[in-house]
Amino acid sequence: MKQAERVQRQFNQQAERFATWEVTGNEVNLQQFSRFCKLQADDKVLEAACGTGHMVNYCASSVASVDGVDIAERMIALAQAEADQRQLGNVRFSVGPVESLPFPDGGHSVVMSRAAFHHFADPRQVIDEMLRCCCTGGRLCIQDIIGYGDPELDAYVEELEVAIDSSHARTLLRDEFTGLFTEVGLVGIHGVEFQTRLDLINYVGHAVQSDEMQAEVEKLIEKGLGDAKLSSIFEQHDGRLALIRNVLFIGGRKADTDSPAELARRPRIVRLKLDQP
Ligand SMILES: C[S@@+](CC[C@H](N)C(=O)[O-])C[C@H]1O[C@@H](n2cnc3c(N)ncnc32)[C@H](O)[C@@H]1O
Repeated sequence: MKQAERVQRQFNQQAERFATWEVTGNEVNLQQFSRFCKLQADDKVLEAACGTGHMVNYCASSVASVDGVDIAERMIALAQAEADQRQLGNVRFSVGPVESLPFPDGGHSVVMSRAAFHHFADPRQVIDEMLRCCCTGGRLCIQDIIGYGDPELDAYVEELEVAIDSSHARTLLRDEFTGLFTEVGLVGIHGVEFQTRLDLINYVGHAVQSDEMQAEVEKLIEKGLGDAKLSSIFEQHDGRLALIRNVLFIGGRKADTDSPAELARRPRIVRLKLDQP
């Protein structure tokens, strides 16, 4: 099965559970990521892989317009229903792959993506396509989980993620994101990295599709808890088990300068000790 089909199948089936999962609508995250994108009243925003449209609908009141694209039609149906219910007149949703966005070159001033890059077969292709839709001087901003930077931990968590959600492709490392942003010529690359704690029962529950998958997830969690190194990414939190994940916000500007100093400036990633609820 192709990756796009896996994603469609997974997210069409889990759309309702995804929409009501505590993490999807977390106001703190919506606010922090929208602030990170430095949204302005005249911005034309595009979210690639917008899912149930929480970010799109959240941004609508502070910008000129927001477009959201996602490959899973059930996710888009829920996004549209929420926008209709809130009578948002400046949002538009479309169904389709982010590898081929239905927009002309340079029509958006902010092109963003939240919590989706770990589903893409070819992240570079998606960044190129997002950049095509971004105007000169516009911003490209991505939020996603990133790896721990330890091969053993990363291999274990990738296995766990695929058992939870079969459409998980690969979690990138922070340096892979900064590398991609640099390669495509973005300038002013900056970012924030922090940790988040995912309640495991809710995390597994929002995605897992079958008893077999559930059993595989439980087996992997048991393995992780019984291992000195792997258990370091689990934590008891208010009497419940949480998975600690690293998250990155990364942004850059589509070059509107040929200043050698600006073009040569190194990415600046701040690591926050703070947790995000
Ligand atoms: C974890 S959800 C995140 C949704 C949304 N961005 C949010 O933060 O709530 C990932 C989304 O990426 C979408 N997706 C994954 N691969 C895609 C692709 N190649 N083209 C379009 N959408 C894709 C899925 O359908 C799903 O809705």
